[in-house]
Amino acid sequence: MKREPRFAVAIMAAGKGTRLKSQHPKVLHQIGGKPLLEHVIAAAAQLVPVADVYAIVGHEAERVRNALQHTGVNFVVQKEQRGTGHAIMTARQALSAYDDFLVLSGDVPLIHTDTLRELRDFHLKQNAAMTLLAATPPDPTGYGRVIRKLKNGKPTEVVTAIVEQKALTPAQMKFREMNAGVYAFATKPLFANIDKLTTDNAHREFYLTDMAAILSRAGERVVAVATNDFSQVLGINNRAELARLDAVLRERKCAELMASGVTIYRPETCVIDADVQVEADTIIEPFVQLLGTTRISGECRIRSYSVISNSQIGAGVVVRPGSIIDESVIGNGAIIGPYSHLRPGSEVGEKAHVGNFVETKKARLGRGSKANHLTYLGDTVIGDNVNVGAGTITCNYDGVNKHQTVIEDGAFIGSDSTLVAPVRIGKGSYVGAASCITRDVPSDALAIARGQQVVKEGWAREKRAGKAQKTST
Ligand code: UD1
Ligand code: CA
Repeated sequence: MKREPRFAVAIMAAGKGTRLKSQHPKVLHQIGGKPLLEHVIAAAAQLVPVADVYAIVGHEAERVRNALQHTGVNFVVQKEQRGTGHAIMTARQALSAYDDFLVLSGDVPLIHTDTLRELRDFHLKQNAAMTLLAATPPDPTGYGRVIRKLKNGKPTEVVTAIVEQKALTPAQMKFREMNAGVYAFATKPLFANIDKLTTDNAHREFYLTDMAAILSRAGERVVAVATNDFSQVLGINNRAELARLDAVLRERKCAELMASGVTIYRPETCVIDADVQVEADTIIEPFVQLLGTTRISGECRIRSYSVISNSQIGAGVVVRPGSIIDESVIGNGAIIGPYSHLRPGSEVGEKAHVGNFVETKKARLGRGSKANHLTYLGDTVIGDNVNVGAGTITCNYDGVNKHQTVIEDGAFIGSDSTLVAPVRIGKGSYVGAASCITRDVPSDALAIARGQQVVKEGWAREKRAGKAQKTST
């Protein structure tokens, strides 16, 4: 029986990213709401089992490992970062178990699995020792250039060298084909020759790119496969490139959503993370942000300037302008905003309303309940069809502990009431406006807790008369 070739993916992610001028490791910088390295891991893990993916980490290795442990990849630590060639030397032991492997760069995050598959298949078919992915962007400045062997003056698939930007001779400047930093290697010839790498270059580093010339000189087959889609192989070395690739991802995401039936007005102004899901016939207005693992059902309208993160929005929900929704769940047909702030743990029931300047936190509103104006609801459980009047405040914090407020079905809370927790407002009861409720209210009762009104007949008229007398004397 023919054995399947053992195939791995190594991702070089140990570099510091000096050009980002950051305190944080380069590969943890985000585009599309996800660390650069996580994008690359996702592309790799669709090609091979995640157990065969090796991330080579070094600069702030622990932080990188902690941030990406959940992906299930293996980590190899490159203690000192002495170049891309050195990164692969470090992973020699792990990779020697495989016949061939791909090498990806942690800072080339838009790469597609399809392109990796083509690279792998081409490499195996060509029986090459090294296959590199090449592209021709409008401006290849800064990238290594691919030098192909010519036949009758025409370039062939065979590569003789990769020359880094800084080492280009004036004659080589005309080579516009860039090295994408994505390679396939046959394990044996690579490791038989990798010790020939030297640090005799501008950065005093071991360049993996030098393996093209080394293998070629050793009589091994080195070839290139070109991709037409150069946007996939753009690298991130500075903040401007980070912003540009983030925009590319956002644009891709909006295009995908629109293709699946979502209306997005002025998509170029919307910020939608890679893992967000939106169902058909939802409308997203300009300047909306949908972040993290947010899921939005169909027939919703998300109005401008709303920021929704890690939340679930039911069908037919209207989120009016300027609302902030974080780690919350909104039931079908609910109306939120304008200017609502739903903090983590808020659950808004079907057809419930949360209105202007209402803040909620760990608060559940039942079906059809309303808190329409200027209210704070924290650590609160509200039943169905409750009316929470304007300016109601749950006093959930005593300076040391948080306490719960319960408002049962059909209760009516008059405006400007303060509910001092822990407290329970019984089913169908009323709280008079401006009450300060410190004790439980039984079902169907009326509770009033405020200063009595005093009326002094004629008081104002007499005051004015007194003043008139004074001025006339
Ligand atoms: C590299 C290529 C260049 C190519 C470009 C494509 C080299 C010498 N040059 O240049 O030909 O056009 O990518 O984007 O390889 N890394 C390590 N350990 C190290 C050094 C780097 O893991 O010791 C990692 C970095 O974190 C990064 C990747 O390798 O993810 C590439 O390194 P970088 O320094 O960005 O190489 P470039 O200058 O972009
Ligand atoms: Ca780079």
